[in-house]
Amino acid sequence: MKNTMRVTEDLYYIGASDRRIALFESAFPVPRGVSYNSYLLLDEKTVLFDTVDAAVTEEFLHNLESVLGARTLDYLVVQHVEPDHSASFARVLERYPEVCVVASAKAAVMLKNFFSYEGATVVKEGDALETGKHRLRFLAAPMVHWPEVLFTYDEVAGTLFSADAFGTFGALGGSIFADEVQFERDFLDDARRYYFNIVGKYGVQVQSVLKKAAALEIKTVCPLHGPIWRKDFAWYLQKYDIWSKYAPETQGAAVFYASIYGHTQNAAEILAAALAAEGVKEIAVYDVSVTDKSVLLAEAFRYSHAVFLSPTYNNGIFVNMEDFLRDLCAHGYCNRRYALAENGSWAPQAARLMQETLSSCKNMQKVGESVTVLSAVTTQNAQELKALAREIAKSFD
Ligand code: FEO
Repeated sequence: MKNTMRVTEDLYYIGASDRRIALFESAFPVPRGVSYNSYLLLDEKTVLFDTVDAAVTEEFLHNLESVLGARTLDYLVVQHVEPDHSASFARVLERYPEVCVVASAKAAVMLKNFFSYEGATVVKEGDALETGKHRLRFLAAPMVHWPEVLFTYDEVAGTLFSADAFGTFGALGGSIFADEVQFERDFLDDARRYYFNIVGKYGVQVQSVLKKAAALEIKTVCPLHGPIWRKDFAWYLQKYDIWSKYAPETQGAAVFYASIYGHTQNAAEILAAALAAEGVKEIAVYDVSVTDKSVLLAEAFRYSHAVFLSPTYNNGIFVNMEDFLRDLCAHGYCNRRYALAENGSWAPQAARLMQETLSSCKNMQKVGESVTVLSAVTTQNAQELKALAREIAKSFD
């Protein structure tokens, strides 16, 4: 049975959610599932905006056929060729062989490479498609999150089809609208994790499309994952602005530690308690060997300050901390204050090596002296950690 919802007068949600998926992109845990959004405009011409992941192809096709009824599909606008949105492309073409596929030049190449399809009508920034009552204007959104991405703006309805932008992990359950769910409570952490892990490396490009969006009168935002926005979008837009400027969202300290036998954890907890005693209100403590890297990444970007504590291992940084730091740097981590502590039973190296790794990140300010623990935390180490906490607390703006 079809499960579709009306978004605006002529627009229908025909996507579906996957709650069986364990890892999105084979990398990111999604315990709350994920939705693959697809939209169908019923005007004098019919227009499909993207397809869905292979996991929900059958539900999607059923929805598409049900909403179209006896009508045919006139246009398929391919905004993003990544397979979570294009896996059902060939099935749509099989069912509607006369459909006109509209895509950017780069998307046309990708459609050839993925599907051996060479019939796309190529559009570029500023081109428009008249569908009857509606007029669709295309905006280039390169690297949000692949180079071929297009946004589409319905000039008549004020609807922005925003591809991956403004999306989030988390299946849709019942309502498809952000104003009908507890977005801040139930989706914001997943939205931040989605942003920094999927799109975060491309903050400059996100800023560029935010500027384009600011010039539009937007009533509805239809992303390819997660709830649709039709109220209070400015609140979410501001989050995107903060995130894409690499500015901290929370004035506080995230304490990230790796620990093999508990001594570095002990140092991390002494430091966190000292931060609290110094009046730092927002503190989060993570064992990088336990918490998923995608959560660690989002939390590092969320906070203004970070403290990294690691044992020395094989004359290097402990492997899980090393992986985390490299992932942070690869995602453009910058503009933060940080402090370091290391452990090493005979040749501590981790602090120097962590600092070297972080030196590839822009505008990072080290706070205080690195603390060195030689096996177990001593009374002197505890004093050094408390002194470091004082320095960190003083460094807040
Ligand atoms: Fe949801 Fe970049 O794909």
